[in-house]
Amino acid sequence: MKTFNDFYQNSVRLSFEDHPFSKSPKHVWVICRYNNQWLLTQHKDRGFEFPGGKVEEGETAEEAAVREVKEETGGRVEDLQYVGQYHVEGKGGTVIKNVYFAAIGLLTKQEHYFETHGPVIFQHLPKNMKSNERFSFMMKDEVLPLCLHRIKEHHEKN
Ligand code: GTP
Repeated sequence: MKTFNDFYQNSVRLSFEDHPFSKSPKHVWVICRYNNQWLLTQHKDRGFEFPGGKVEEGETAEEAAVREVKEETGGRVEDLQYVGQYHVEGKGGTVIKNVYFAAIGLLTKQEHYFETHGPVIFQHLPKNMKSNERFSFMMKDEVLPLCLHRIKEHHEKN
């Protein structure tokens, strides 16, 4: 278990155990790989981030992950792997989020991309993300580097 503060100084706990905080988390975040590149979305307010969002009524977290990737990027998830779960103790309440690693097989243009401007592809994630205003706060705490490290060690197939 790792504990740190996020961009807004909220307390975050991240674990790579099997659903340590909730068996039915209400949020998902999906680190997407497409054509050997990173597939993000451009949120209208928050900026560049990996796709994700809320689990809807009657939906599993995995189903939400697949749906959110499609809605926000047009990407079709071919393979979805659970990476870990994090817990944010915010001023507005607690958020528990599953992190997934997804292989995207096909990117199709969508009529609309919900609350985002749609897909953005990066060959490499920039080193200066933390100070870059174009990136979402979600990309600016230790969740992303720790998950990327975990993915490199446990999930990436060559
Ligand atoms: P809506 O209800 O859809 O309007 O969104 P919301 O932003 O009000 O609610 P949400 O439950 O998504 O998030 C509430 C708060 O939790 C945010 O304002 C953040 O402070 C925090 N939060 C949500 N997701 C994350 C995340 O991925 N990382 C971090 N560090 N904080 C998050």
